Amino acid sequence: MYNGIELSASLMCVDWTRAGDQVRELETLGIDFLHIDIIDGVFAPDFTMGSSIIDQFRSFTQLPFDYHLMVEEPSRVFDGFKLLSGDYFSIHQEASRNLHRDLISIRKKAGMVGVAISPATSLKTLEYIIEDLDLVLIMTVNPGFKGQTLVQQSIRKVSNLKALIRQMNLKTKISVDGNVNSKTIPEMIAAGADRLVLGSSGLFRADLNLQKSMAEIHQSIDEGLELRAKNVS
Ligand code: DX5
Ligand code: ZN
Repeated sequence: MYNGIELSASLMCVDWTRAGDQVRELETLGIDFLHIDIIDGVFAPDFTMGSSIIDQFRSFTQLPFDYHLMVEEPSRVFDGFKLLSGDYFSIHQEASRNLHRDLISIRKKAGMVGVAISPATSLKTLEYIIEDLDLVLIMTVNPGFKGQTLVQQSIRKVSNLKALIRQMNLKTKISVDGNVNSKTIPEMIAAGADRLVLGSSGLFRADLNLQKSMAEIHQSIDEGLELRAKNVS
């Protein structure tokens, strides 16, 4: 947590030749969650990792997991994931035929409940579900790959969602995922993001080590919080 903003490191962007060391270092640098992208090659192109790889990380990190399932009909795979209290488990609105039922199943698994929406999906799709959510994950790029550019209108979506959450007096958090970096963080924070998913463009960079990337991220969060304060006043 940095100045009230939660930081979630995207495991798919780690350097896999030294994944353990990087995760341990992230823990010392103040990362709050490991963001775990599960892609099935159907809902989104490409594939990532399954439970046998993911569960290995529990043996050397206390960080809670922030699951993001980009999986068609996700309830088919719920049994494969062991959730601990403090973990978040988000499924896509577009991928579930019985979203409300699926959210009840996740709640029973002890995790915090999230719904993710892709850039073209309207906030209206959450109208009758939002009060049941701990987290809304706004995808700021299309699901599937690291290293994409921001879909600009998703910033407007974050602002509108924040207004709705305030209006309904809810505690639902907003997470942003995709192209989160020192250039985009200020506008994301100003719009109302509570959690940043940090991937290849912001944290796991070729040109900077993790410590220096984190310092840049902190600075851009502060810029965003200043902008947010101005917007409110
Ligand atoms: C996109 C993934 C992101 C990934 C992208 O499908 O969900 O988790 O971290 O990060 P960037 O865009 O910075 O490479
Ligand atoms: Zn993700």
